[in-house]
Amino acid sequence: MYLPYFFLFSILLALSPSSALVQDFCVADLSLPPTPAGYPCKKPSKVTADDFAFHGLAAKGNTSNIISAAVTPALDAQFPGVNGLGISILRIDLAVGGVIPLHTHPAGSELVVVIEGTILVGFISSFDNVVYIKTLNKGDIMVFPQGLVHFQINTGKTPALAFASFGTQNPGLQIIDFALFKNDFPTELVNKVTFLDVAQIKKLKGVLGGTN
Ligand SMILES: *[C@@H]1O[C@H](CO)[C@@H](O)[C@H](O)[C@H]1NC(C)=O
Repeated sequence: MYLPYFFLFSILLALSPSSALVQDFCVADLSLPPTPAGYPCKKPSKVTADDFAFHGLAAKGNTSNIISAAVTPALDAQFPGVNGLGISILRIDLAVGGVIPLHTHPAGSELVVVIEGTILVGFISSFDNVVYIKTLNKGDIMVFPQGLVHFQINTGKTPALAFASFGTQNPGLQIIDFALFKNDFPTELVNKVTFLDVAQIKKLKGVLGGTN
């Protein structure tokens, strides 16, 4: 009596949609807009090995800019294979004296590994504003916890190269100076909410292209 039921149950389990839907990956279909959960998946029949490889981090980024630094991303929008996997990576090039200004990634923690040169890195805790600073050399790593403001500076005498990986396919990015000085945030309000001098605010708006 019970044995046939057991077999029936086993067959139903094997045929149930949940066991048929185990999905190894969700390569991003970049022709469709991203959702809060990432990009929609490409049809598995259209996926190739190329979707899981990315060659864009081999070349040095152009550091001829006001921060003497370049970031080359391999996030979901550039590297469709990481979509849905909760990981991503980017390349950081810093000329001598180059700076990645104070910024935060709202959506993920970051692990940075130095490949060449010397980089001074730091982050600030949100609870009690402790500043954690380290100088990293070749092979050294540092972790920046999710959402905390952090920075990188090339303090060495040679160009520096690092890679940063994230526990998310798209960590998001907000650069503090851009939030304050690269938009139309009225100067008198920036002055009110930061206590910075108006002259300094106008100077930085001028450098970064902000108005008002
Ligand atoms: C690097 O960027 C600067 C400023 O935009 C530009 O003048 C220069 O041609 C670029 N160099 C290369 C190698 O692309």
